[in-house]
Amino acid sequence: MKQLRLDALRDPVAHLAFLETYEEAAARADAFWQDRAVGSGEGSTTARQLIAEAPDGTWAGSVTVLIEEAGTKDWAGYPVERRQGHVVGVFVRPAHRGNGLIKVLFDAGVAWARERGAQRVRLLVHEDNERAQGAYRKAGFVPSGVVVPFFKEAAQNELEFVLDWPS
Ligand SMILES: CC(C)(COP(=O)(O)OP(=O)(O)OC[C@H]1O[C@@H](n2cnc3c(N)ncnc32)[C@H](O)[C@@H]1OP(=O)(O)O)[C@@H](O)C(=O)NCCC(=O)NCCS
Repeated sequence: MKQLRLDALRDPVAHLAFLETYEEAAARADAFWQDRAVGSGEGSTTARQLIAEAPDGTWAGSVTVLIEEAGTKDWAGYPVERRQGHVVGVFVRPAHRGNGLIKVLFDAGVAWARERGAQRVRLLVHEDNERAQGAYRKAGFVPSGVVVPFFKEAAQNELEFVLDWPS
């Protein structure tokens, strides 16, 4: 898990895609990675990391779904109006891109969120990360119209994309 994350943070668009830097992640203690693995593993009801494994056993990509509870505030201080999944940490290794793998990961993540009672799934994507936006649209997500300032540079924006389903 640590290796996949460190590789993701060296992607050419990592500065748009992820909030932490490679240097920050590489400096984290092993206990951090252990906690994160447990916190998004099979025993967790609040987060789930979905992993695509290649035939040779290497990890090809991953998404993580966090459950946000109605009545709470999200990481940025905005109110959460319904129980929903929030997708973070989206990454597919370059050799596995463009083949539909990301949709398979999304479908698995959305299915898990629905099992957990989520009423929709959302994510945030940088306005300039057009490839990711294309992948999200193909997975059924649409822009909600919510735009938030980019954490690292307030003059830039992140767009909220959502996937809803009939209740
Ligand atoms: C985001 C990511 C997981 C998407 O997976 P992927 O396999 O590359 O996605 P796909 O190729 O299936 O879909 C991307 C779509 O956008 C299109 N696209 C690619 N570059 C584009 C661009 N610059 N502008 C517009 N569309 C673009 C592709 O053509 C494709 O659509 P198509 O299949 O109809 O041709 C992967 O690219 C990745 O890991 N990127 C680096 C990390 C990242 O950006 N994470 C997202 C953080 S929000």
